[in-house]
Amino acid sequence: MGGEFQIMARKLTILDLQEKKRRGEPITMLTGYDYPTALLEDRAGVDIILVGDSLGMTVLGMESTLPVTMDIMVTMSRAVTRAVKRAFVVGDMPYMSYQTGKRDAIINAGRLMQEAGVDCVKLEGGVEMAETVEALTKATIPVMGHIGLTPQSMSQLGGFRAQGRDAKAAKALLDDALALESAGACMILLEGIPPEVGQAITERCSVPIIGIGAGPHCDGQLLIVHDMLGFFDKFTPKFVKKYADMNVIITEAIGRYIDDVFAGRFPGPEHCYAMKEGELEKFRELLDRT
Ligand code: KIV
Repeated sequence: MGGEFQIMARKLTILDLQEKKRRGEPITMLTGYDYPTALLEDRAGVDIILVGDSLGMTVLGMESTLPVTMDIMVTMSRAVTRAVKRAFVVGDMPYMSYQTGKRDAIINAGRLMQEAGVDCVKLEGGVEMAETVEALTKATIPVMGHIGLTPQSMSQLGGFRAQGRDAKAAKALLDDALALESAGACMILLEGIPPEVGQAITERCSVPIIGIGAGPHCDGQLLIVHDMLGFFDKFTPKFVKKYADMNVIITEAIGRYIDDVFAGRFPGPEHCYAMKEGELEKFRELLDRT
């Protein structure tokens, strides 16, 4: 795995990710929300695992990310950090955990760092969040900025729609990225924007730029693990490439289990526990007497 690039065996730091950008080595990132999935992602060699608040939709069946709370994010992020030995883990700041002010942002991001053990937090917003990013950075909390299609602003954006598609909006995204970088953001995530805008931002920023639906020129790529494994089929964004169809695999496996139980093929002798030596005869005697 890893093509021409070597996969480092130890835990990755922000310096390793910055070095990858400098060398032009692609950075891989996936969302991960639970222990077993994070274990597999880490073993496969993904560089960054994002415990995204998208878990509200992919794992908890919510209609949007807005109802996700800090307590949920801490619990899920902790499950991921327990599994991970190598990947850099980013914990997402849920809706209203940082928009209400710098003090709230520090307290809540501090929980993700201290209670869940993440390496960095992510928050949505550009120029308007620069002061918050600066405050978090000063409080020793590494921050990944997230601009473009920002799901927490879905109501303001009028739904899940691509951003930066006219020159003025594209330039505003570049200004957002530069403001986040000046404020101390250690990485920036671009979501749902044209590739030319992704390229301009990647070339002008010195921190690693990761894209999800932001074209091939970013320093790294992110996919939602439930999309790329075919777990979540409510809708599939244009930028998703499906690498497996877990819906089909799991439904088919559960169907075979149901058939086996009905046909008496499961459980078989190999799935049953034996009684201790000599105990079966004694048990039968006891049964005969009752
Ligand atoms: O919550 C998440 O997984 C995200 C991605 C959609 C970028 O923020």
